[in-house]
Amino acid sequence: MFYDIRGLSVTASSQEAVDALDAATDEFLRQSRDAGLIAARMDKLDPNMILGQCLRGYFMQLPSRLHLQAGSLECLAKATALADDGTARERKHIEALAAWCAGDIRRTNAIWEEILIDHPHDILAFRLAHLMHFFIGELGAMRHSAARIMSRWSEAVPGYGYVLGCRAFSLEETGEAQSAEPLGRRAVELNEADIWAGHAVAHCLETMGRRADGITWITAHGDTWRQSGPFANHLWWHRSLHYLELQRYDAVLDAFDREFWPEPSEDNTDIGNATSILMRLGMLGVDVGDRWQSVAEVCAGRVGDCLRPFNDLHFIMGLANSGRLQEADAMVGHMRDFARDNVGAGVTTAQVARDVGIAVAEAIVAHAKGEHGRVVTLMMGHRYAMVPLGGSWAQRDVWIRMLIDSAMKDGQGTLARALLAERVAEQPTSAPSWKLYADALQTCGDNAQATAMRAKAAMLLAA
Ligand SMILES: [Fe+2]
Repeated sequence: MFYDIRGLSVTASSQEAVDALDAATDEFLRQSRDAGLIAARMDKLDPNMILGQCLRGYFMQLPSRLHLQAGSLECLAKATALADDGTARERKHIEALAAWCAGDIRRTNAIWEEILIDHPHDILAFRLAHLMHFFIGELGAMRHSAARIMSRWSEAVPGYGYVLGCRAFSLEETGEAQSAEPLGRRAVELNEADIWAGHAVAHCLETMGRRADGITWITAHGDTWRQSGPFANHLWWHRSLHYLELQRYDAVLDAFDREFWPEPSEDNTDIGNATSILMRLGMLGVDVGDRWQSVAEVCAGRVGDCLRPFNDLHFIMGLANSGRLQEADAMVGHMRDFARDNVGAGVTTAQVARDVGIAVAEAIVAHAKGEHGRVVTLMMGHRYAMVPLGGSWAQRDVWIRMLIDSAMKDGQGTLARALLAERVAEQPTSAPSWKLYADALQTCGDNAQATAMRAKAAMLLAA
């Protein structure tokens, strides 16, 4: 028996193999592009290490890519064949990988959480549970998961900052950005390469509408995070949200071209960043040129993926907004088939598609077709059901913007006014929202209020 860097026992053939397991885990915690490479090296050192196989199987599930599914199942088969030699913790990891391969993400999360009750230093189980709670919108579970183990960690335990960063992100996503921010900043002080903690702070600053601070934060750490891998692109997307609110649309387009979509990418987060910002720009009336085309080309290759509704919705945005409506409709059809074919099969994403994914997908296509009344009907019925789609509040906001846009374009001024009153109450520093609110007020004939709201927007932009 050997021990990992946090003192947990690991069934392996050598300490060198366990050290490689630690190294691969650390790369994963940093969202580094090298995690897979180090895992492959670990596999060469000890192909019979149960946790090694589980780790590789997990890594192949995480990106939600069809072509990696078979590899993950292979790892599961190898780990299962070794199960009798493993510890109880290792067998639970095999169980978790099996549940994940079967699409039962809720069960997968429950197994990782069981592991953490006895082994709060199992940082792999913790971080995976954190991410997958996030992926299916289990925000309370994500928050409590971190809270349960925090008292068992301290700065003396290697990797403490990663836990702190997750705690920060979970607090931010459950409405406590102010208390989250110092935790995320401390994690980055401990390890600047901890991009997930840096991302948590970026979310705090976005939520609090602190535009200048948000731009400064991301710019200051950009060089370090850029070395990690493609997740850094998501941080440039976050910086663009600030530019968008400041109406610096040239800066947004420049970031799109140079930072987060410099060339076509198959990475789901990259596709999400690109489609989401283009849709926001379009709804603000900004000419995005032919930028939809290269994004749509990638999305077209993903028709029928159905691995995660959140991703599918972004692929549909890419297709529908570039005029490829037939392919967008086909993708919605695949979502319907997937949801129907997996009824009762315990496939978490199929349930999410049934509950809300298909409705939002239909709304995205309707929006692109100019069927704004239909968008309003679909989104008013599902707007509060979107959390299980996963992604952050900032990411899902694109579909709330879509609802408001359609309410305006469908001539439903009273509804638009109400939705925008709600929006400016939640985001009082958002100049574009105050402007839209002014437009809706004017539509309703309240010119005096509209003038006051425009003045408010101008004041915010001048600040
Ligand atoms: Fe984010």
